[in-house]
Amino acid sequence: MALSAAALAEEIRRRRTFAIISHPDAGKTTLTEKLLLYGGAIRSAGSVKSRRSDRHATSDWLEMEQERGISITASVLHFEYQNFRINLLDTPGHQDFSEDTYRALTAADSAIMLLDNRKGVEVQTQKLFSVCKKRRLPIYTFVNKCDRIGEDPLRLLDDVQAELGIDCFVSTWPVRREGRLVGVYDRGCGKVWLYEEAGDHGRSRPRATLVHLESDELATAIGSEGVEKLSEEIELIEIAGSEADFDAVERGEASPVCFGSALTNFGVDVFLERFLSLAPPPSPREVTDGVIEPAAHPFSGFVFKVQANMDPRHRDRVAFVRVCSGEFEEGAEAVVSRTGQKLRLAQPQEFMARERTHADSLAVAGDVVGLLDRGNLRVGDTVALGDRIEYPGVPRFSPEHFSQIHIEDALRRKHLDRGLRHLAEEGTILLLFAPSITGPIPIVGAVGSLQFDVLLDRLQREYGVSARLEKLPFHCARWVTGPDDQIEKVANAYGRRRVMDADGAQLILFDNEWTLRRSMEQEKDLTFHDVQPNTSVDA
Ligand code: G4P
Repeated sequence: MALSAAALAEEIRRRRTFAIISHPDAGKTTLTEKLLLYGGAIRSAGSVKSRRSDRHATSDWLEMEQERGISITASVLHFEYQNFRINLLDTPGHQDFSEDTYRALTAADSAIMLLDNRKGVEVQTQKLFSVCKKRRLPIYTFVNKCDRIGEDPLRLLDDVQAELGIDCFVSTWPVRREGRLVGVYDRGCGKVWLYEEAGDHGRSRPRATLVHLESDELATAIGSEGVEKLSEEIELIEIAGSEADFDAVERGEASPVCFGSALTNFGVDVFLERFLSLAPPPSPREVTDGVIEPAAHPFSGFVFKVQANMDPRHRDRVAFVRVCSGEFEEGAEAVVSRTGQKLRLAQPQEFMARERTHADSLAVAGDVVGLLDRGNLRVGDTVALGDRIEYPGVPRFSPEHFSQIHIEDALRRKHLDRGLRHLAEEGTILLLFAPSITGPIPIVGAVGSLQFDVLLDRLQREYGVSARLEKLPFHCARWVTGPDDQIEKVANAYGRRRVMDADGAQLILFDNEWTLRRSMEQEKDLTFHDVQPNTSVDA
């Protein structure tokens, strides 16, 4: 179905494509579940019981899928909420999978930063925040777990500003009675949302009433002393806190902050509505020579994730494409920019299969489509109708863990090669070759060591290959470009090794950071890249 220009523009305008960034345990799964609840995608939120031991090995959503019986892919959740079409991109919580998260952030138009009210900014939040900042993504902050007493809210804001270098301003503020969260003050309208617990441990939406600061309802809920204290806090926010600057939010330089509890749902509805009204719809994106307007250009998008063997019965791969312009037209012939190959746009994969309420297959800029792929697509590829255009590459980070891989049964060698190729194309590992030294035994590199666990597990389950890893004594690597003899000289020194990735790009492995830094300082003719050359996080 081809939309009229006006209908296409309207569809794009109501898209909100975002990711949640947080440190593990801050409450991302709980909040996601509440967003689904509020969006009507699920009827009741149950406690998602985590199996801590293997939660790192799967997507948080896959885990949720198993626990809750909803079918969700590891990549995107989509649902409708108050005439917004929401695309929530998955970002694995564990730091060893941060590369996946970085890639998902390239597909997002904004991000929710979720903080624990006792912990503030944690390591993983900081890392993910820095990627958002580089991409100038608008960030909306939700301080979670306010049903418990935590850090003083103003101090928490100061910490966020100091640690992340982003201006924060209060959007909602926790309202308590004797330490218990009963509502949130909404700075936008100067009133208080009071909540009534439904008595079902946050499974359903609590009743919310909007009351004036001078109202009897508020005095009854928090007492006259409570009202006085709240008025003082509000005065303090107005005097000492930052003013709401929504232009700065759009530029990724300031973040509105809401307080609440994903567990009890208090404050979640206000946050969600505020977020959806402020967060940007898909905006123009840069390509190699120009800018693509989402509504004024035919279908184009880029692959930000490839996943093999999603359906164990079929050996197929799904390439997840973030649509950046136009409308996905099934049957149309697109071009893959890297290879110039033609690709017929067929069989877009649906996501929330079992519990889908909106069964439309319309996909426009902002949406994510899953394309069945037979090995033609790679992470970073641009797929477009019309002119051959190219979105900047999706970053590929230099690995920090290296191992040689050995198989128990030499007859499974072909299966191993195929599995490694597929998993490298997905970005699970980086496949490296050093033919002169290791012969045919490949080296695998990973940003986080848990990626190796996933590798061995998937080789076994999906390719029937029992393999073992032999750790190599290197701890960092850089892609390197420059005169070949110079590369050779640097790589031949003690504690280093020259290798190639599957694209033929050269890397040097180093046994420690110090030797790497020294080489970088001394070798002025060489350029050391911490992401694969021709890709950039500044995309
Ligand atoms: P994650 O995906 O970011 O890792 O966090 P997740 O939602 O799994 O939440 C981590 C823990 O924090 C869970 O407790 C969860 O119930 C709790 N939690 C989430 N939001 C809130 C909140 O607003 N208030 C409070 N007090 N706790 C919250 P758990 O004991 O580890 O697991 P469970 O047995 O409760 O599922």
